[in-house]
Amino acid sequence: MVCLGNICRSPLADGVLRHKVRIENLSVEVDSAGTSNYHVGEAPDKRMIQTAKSKGIDISFLRARQFTSNDFLNFDRIYVMDDSNYENVLALAPSESHRSKVAYLLAEIDGRNNSVPDPYFGKQDGFEHVFNLINAATDVIINQLKSNTSS
Ligand code: 4NP
Repeated sequence: MVCLGNICRSPLADGVLRHKVRIENLSVEVDSAGTSNYHVGEAPDKRMIQTAKSKGIDISFLRARQFTSNDFLNFDRIYVMDDSNYENVLALAPSESHRSKVAYLLAEIDGRNNSVPDPYFGKQDGFEHVFNLINAATDVIINQLKSNTSS
């Protein structure tokens, strides 16, 4: 899961997907990163920790790191939150063949490359909205992963 700072959207997406992977007992590694180095080493934004906590999900242990081209080698799927993440991540693809690993997270819901809005400079309801979008998209991913393991 990739966003700009790795303190708001992608740690929530990481934490929500990890939570669901654990509930479903799937063998899947989930991680997150930011395209920038602005917040490397920091815990998620307090408002996002609180939003996740209100849904029964702990993201407080996550620490921000910067996305690197090695992530293309270590992960099968790379989900981005918005257009600038998409461009920045693709620019680090080690080869043309790796580009197909990158997708917009919200495209899992309806096939459209919509963005998860950045809640950083907004109010609390923006965080709740981000949770709802991420919750819906990760439900789709979990269903795909479950059908992969049963086939
Ligand atoms: P994120 O949100 O990309 O969802 O983690 C942001 C966090 C920090 C900044 C921008 C977006 N920032 O400019 O510091």
